[in-house]
Amino acid sequence: MTELLTSATAFAPATVANVAVGFDLMGFAISGFGDTVTVRHIDEPTVKIDEITGVVPDLPLEAEKNTAGVVLLRLLDKGVKSGGFALKIQKGIPLGSGMGGSAASAAGALVAANKLLKNPLPLEELYLLSLFGETLAGGAPHGDNVGPCLTGGLLLARSVSYPVDLVHLPIPSEIRAVVVHPHICISTKEARAILRSDVPLKSFIEQSGNLAGFISACYTNDYKMIGRCLRDVVIEPQRAALIPGFADARKNAFDSGALGFSISGSGPAVFALCRGDEAATKVRKGIVEAFLRHSLPCDEWSGSISELGAYIVSFS
Ligand code: HSE
Repeated sequence: MTELLTSATAFAPATVANVAVGFDLMGFAISGFGDTVTVRHIDEPTVKIDEITGVVPDLPLEAEKNTAGVVLLRLLDKGVKSGGFALKIQKGIPLGSGMGGSAASAAGALVAANKLLKNPLPLEELYLLSLFGETLAGGAPHGDNVGPCLTGGLLLARSVSYPVDLVHLPIPSEIRAVVVHPHICISTKEARAILRSDVPLKSFIEQSGNLAGFISACYTNDYKMIGRCLRDVVIEPQRAALIPGFADARKNAFDSGALGFSISGSGPAVFALCRGDEAATKVRKGIVEAFLRHSLPCDEWSGSISELGAYIVSFS
């Protein structure tokens, strides 16, 4: 007889969504920050949040109002088990930072719960359940944070319903990512609410060319084409004003040799992709300097895109 588990803990990484040209569709995982979620079996058929600690301690403890809580409630709706779950969330990703904090809590909770249940749910199911958390946090389901948070790497999450087509894209070996988080808070809901609902035909054509070109260049290791394609002509121009110092950070990033630069998710974090460690160090310094000139202290990170998605840290 297999023994039942009582508790499992998962780590879920921060993510950079959109990647300039894949709004709501593309994202990558980074190793610098993440949330850690412990899920415990309880007899009551409900979801309880016991505590939230770390960099965002004052999030709602009601399961329906928390991204980790709501995805486990939807998991229980599937009738997968008797009883329920109790949760402890340790936040490593700041709230409203643009680094996929709501996605990491949801993905971490689901990966830990799936472990408790002996892994009955395939990746696509975990992804679709995670989207309930994104709808709660951002007002609409989008898979560009939860997708790469679950799989690691650079991911195209083509759809938010079956068939979802989670496509793991190749990353040219010299690509390094830089992520800089200036210390202000932007609500994803608000950053989505300011977006126009229509896209001029000219911009649609340019953005489609850039997305297709970027993906193609990832397959052919064409760094120059990656540089030409990482230009967001649709979303960034509408959101840049939300981030003080954005134009200076962008200028410094390109002057320091970035292949591409844009907003990470809905901001205020920004990201750059660079060729090699030396370029990444220069670009990171340039971006931080720009924000400091605007009196904004930052968290900063650079390195390879992380191939590690949410994973089990321990179980008992
Ligand atoms: N694609 C989403 C947005 C990501 O930019 O609104 C939010 O993290």
